[in-house]
Amino acid sequence: MSNDWWRTATIYQIYPRSFQDTNADGVGDLNGVRYRLDYLVWLGIDAIWLSPFYPSPMHDFGYDVANYCDVDPLFGSLDDFDALVSAAHAKSLKIIIDFVPNHTSNEHPWFLASSSGRDNPLRDWYLWRDAQPDGGPPNNWFSHFGGSAWSWDERTQQYYLHSFLPEQPDLNWRNPQVRAAMYDVLRFWLRRGVDGFRVDVISHIVKDAAFRDNPANPNFAGEGPDIARLAQTYSSDQPEVHDVIAEIRRVVDEFPDRVLIGEIYLPIERLVAYYGKELGGVHLPFNFQLLDARWDAATIANIIEMYEAALPPGAWPNWVLSNHDRPRIAARVGAAQARLATMLLLTLHGTPTLYYGDEIGIGHVDIALERAQDPWGMREPDLGVGRDPSRTPMQWDASAFAGFSTREPWLPLTPDFATRNVATMREDDMCILRLTSKLLHYRHAHSALGIGSQRLLHASDHVLAYERLQGADQILVALNFCHDTRSFSLPNGLSGAVALSTHSGRSGERVPAKLELRGDEGIVIKIG
Ligand code: NOJ
Repeated sequence: MSNDWWRTATIYQIYPRSFQDTNADGVGDLNGVRYRLDYLVWLGIDAIWLSPFYPSPMHDFGYDVANYCDVDPLFGSLDDFDALVSAAHAKSLKIIIDFVPNHTSNEHPWFLASSSGRDNPLRDWYLWRDAQPDGGPPNNWFSHFGGSAWSWDERTQQYYLHSFLPEQPDLNWRNPQVRAAMYDVLRFWLRRGVDGFRVDVISHIVKDAAFRDNPANPNFAGEGPDIARLAQTYSSDQPEVHDVIAEIRRVVDEFPDRVLIGEIYLPIERLVAYYGKELGGVHLPFNFQLLDARWDAATIANIIEMYEAALPPGAWPNWVLSNHDRPRIAARVGAAQARLATMLLLTLHGTPTLYYGDEIGIGHVDIALERAQDPWGMREPDLGVGRDPSRTPMQWDASAFAGFSTREPWLPLTPDFATRNVATMREDDMCILRLTSKLLHYRHAHSALGIGSQRLLHASDHVLAYERLQGADQILVALNFCHDTRSFSLPNGLSGAVALSTHSGRSGERVPAKLELRGDEGIVIKIG
């Protein structure tokens, strides 16, 4: 068993705009993250993943990068970044940053050059194509944010491809100069001490060389976002992408102990291909199956089994419950089941990624139309796809603006922030914050949870149970997915005591052969 740090680590995703504001502009910043490091140590996470903080016109809140090697003044400076890395490392926390290779901002100097004339040396750095004879776009591809993926450039009389906003032109990763320039970007940050990258839409970076039309999506139900109308047969997940990823990995491997994580929304069989030949791809292709899983014991058990069975030899699993693009877990399954979900996430086999704010149980936040920010939500307004409700500020205390800022934040707080905040909840032994922290520290203390094997024991009548085992360390987790009492029988001959429960008054209790779980209850049992 390799001792790579990222196998036993818990990753905590920070959306920098929404974590902590230190310069009173209503938007979070890097110094804010540094200010809150002691909290993260108390919580018990191991690595921070920062969503983009690069100079950007912010059409997609930083996922439109205008300079890969600097910090947007909104978030601070390179000095602030260096100070954050040193302070985090001094507290044994790792820093993973977001790398956005598929597209730049249309204000990036590369695109300004590329769009300045057809004979510009950087013309081929982006994906330019002629119009169809009728003047229409080169093919039928849709942007992920609605409408055609092609925009017309008046000046040079060609279309350019943008898989997301028109302000996010796609780079041409088949061009070796683009690859070389991007590898230098990686080295720039690796030399600054980052511990790894989360790579944005990594499966999209190579497109079909002939730009063929995508076929209709046979599963499209007649309504939904434009992007769902077609199968992404030629615009994503091309066979050639794996060679490019292997190159990226070799760059990262020039530096010891770094991790490469890929953002990939694909079915399991195609997802696991991203571990790469001889595992020379990304270390962790994000496993997003819990993001939209039907929330019941049998479905989750099935996902766990299928996923584990699909992992190639040597591949390390990982799990995600929420992120800045998807509804928060508490919004999806409710407050009681969110506690259970946290227990699931932090006891499963594989590296967990915890989304900031989930530890205080932030649920759905209504965003009034006039406060909406997300470009996707605004481009397809009738679909409810807006991502603002998952990006609201972290709530630290009961003061005005929840200790996030001294002025009105860029997105609203939850209506119950006076009680749903870190300072208040740290005092309450039974709240989800303390549960999360206890689980994280228990995970550190028990190698069975960190690196142990996993065996499913039971998945019926709303109860999911599994065992984690490492040497003499044996732990059993039983989760009740319904609101009523359920019972669960321990496997023959096993006995133990409750180490942690989502509910009160149970810690230390000896577990009888037939165990009663209260509605929505999850428990961690130490066998022995
Ligand atoms: C995925 C990111 O997570 C999302 O927030 C962004 O809008 C798109 N990629 C485009 O970069």
